[in-house]
Amino acid sequence: MSNNLNLTTEVNRRRTFAIISHPDAGKTTLTEKFLLYGGAIREAGSVKSRRANKHAVSDWMEIEKQRGISVTSSVLQFEYNNYCVNILDTPGHQDFSEDTYRTLMAADSAVMVIDSSKGVEAQTIKLFKVCKMRGIPIFTFINKMDRHGKEPLELLEDIEKALGIQSYAMNWPIGNSKEFKGVFNRREKQFEIFDGGNHGQAIAGTVSGDISDNKFKDILGDHLHAQVIEELELLDMAGDDYNIDSILKGELTPVFFGSALTNFGVEPFLKSFLNISTPPKPRHSNHGEINPLDENFSGFIFKIQANMNPSHRDRIAFLRICSGKFTKGISVNHVQKNKKIKLSQPQQFMAQEFKTVEVAYPGDIIGIHDPGIFSIGDTLCENQSKLIYDRIPQFSPEHFAKISAKNSMKRKQFLKGINQLAEEGSIQVFKRPFSGAEELIIGVVGVLQLEVLEYRLKNEYSVDLIIQRLPYKLIKKIENIRFEDISTPMDSMLAITENDTIVFLHQNPWSVGHLEDRNTGIVVKEIFESN
Ligand code: G4P
Repeated sequence: MSNNLNLTTEVNRRRTFAIISHPDAGKTTLTEKFLLYGGAIREAGSVKSRRANKHAVSDWMEIEKQRGISVTSSVLQFEYNNYCVNILDTPGHQDFSEDTYRTLMAADSAVMVIDSSKGVEAQTIKLFKVCKMRGIPIFTFINKMDRHGKEPLELLEDIEKALGIQSYAMNWPIGNSKEFKGVFNRREKQFEIFDGGNHGQAIAGTVSGDISDNKFKDILGDHLHAQVIEELELLDMAGDDYNIDSILKGELTPVFFGSALTNFGVEPFLKSFLNISTPPKPRHSNHGEINPLDENFSGFIFKIQANMNPSHRDRIAFLRICSGKFTKGISVNHVQKNKKIKLSQPQQFMAQEFKTVEVAYPGDIIGIHDPGIFSIGDTLCENQSKLIYDRIPQFSPEHFAKISAKNSMKRKQFLKGINQLAEEGSIQVFKRPFSGAEELIIGVVGVLQLEVLEYRLKNEYSVDLIIQRLPYKLIKKIENIRFEDISTPMDSMLAITENDTIVFLHQNPWSVGHLEDRNTGIVVKEIFESN
């Protein structure tokens, strides 16, 4: 096969998606079942050994195990029906929505898992908003249909009201809880029968035909049959129409009802998803749209994670490939650092293991060993030395704290750890002029990130922290005035960033007015253009 043809074939069979949910909706179970269908694992429970060890293979850090939440996001790859699928797991907790956003930058679509008994939950809303900002297609899997849940129409209404997205039910559940009989696949016009928790083969069979047909009456009984006909008619009349363009623009979500635990509806969902979603698309850069089929290799770093393996101090940069073929040992330009580098130890995450990657294609994520040279958003590319992909937006911190090391002898490790976490993008660091490097101001988007900071400094750098929470919630940058000339209102604080930008930490929006009143000529701006 010619190189070009090979690249086209490989790109076309790639699907890269992020999976989001409120904790406990069933994201891990669904991921595990995908891997099971793809033959990447042999046994359910391999991804997450239940109860005894409540964490997923994607949960690297001890803190995640302890709290049962996913703090970082990870990547898994598997093959299914000749598709090569990349799943990007995201932290379920809203405090890590900035990490979710970065992960979504590397994804081409998202799968949202909802618990049928809970409907749209608080963290689903927050994570969904992040998805919406990216404008990628969103597929919904309403899980746990094997047990009592909300009415399906109520769930659709919930999605539309709480999330502001149109929905199209791809299949329709018949019966609820113990009486759950299966789903009617609206597009294939077939009834997919559920036969209880026979782990593995829960679709006991299918019956095709128009739902009004008498054969369905025989299977479902008069009452249930009449109810389903009524509901489906109502859906046809009042529901949104199936529209592929709206799905691909992220304006309409195809909704699938199923049960990850009993495998019911998982494979039809996977098949439909692979069929509807698109392969990697061109990405925007300072050189215009870069086509994945462009033979020059290019990609960007969307995540940096240090110390994934506590036994060696490693640091991995996650690269999303956007164009061309990646081969091990390839020489690339690190555009932001204006440096030529060789990618000699790339890793990929196949189901449960790390493997050395020999080749990879657009849509794939590879982990590259980072000796401390990469930052989030960096572009790596062959030939086009100045190609830069769109910047990854940063979120404004909403929680602040003053931190220092308990033991002042540990100052070096303290600074090293803080620097590392800042480079991973999980904290933002500010200084108070004249206060010395022993005391820093930290800004985080979610308060749990402070706990992660404390935990990681202790476990990875042997530094105990003194953390003093500050009451500020807002931050702006200040220009056109010297630091020492600024008169600050009560209940606010000034600090500076690493590159000497002055920032104003405050509690209420009106503090900005007070600041402007006191300081003529002062210019107050958002700290990130994306805010
Ligand atoms: P998460 O990653 O979104 O946090 O959810 P996870 O897959 O860990 O699932 C949360 C709980 O919901 C688990 O039970 C899991 O077994 C259960 N679950 C997932 N899918 C289904 C389903 O289709 N039906 C039913 N009835 N339950 C489902 P757990 O008791 O919290 O943990 P475990 O003891 O099963 O590990």
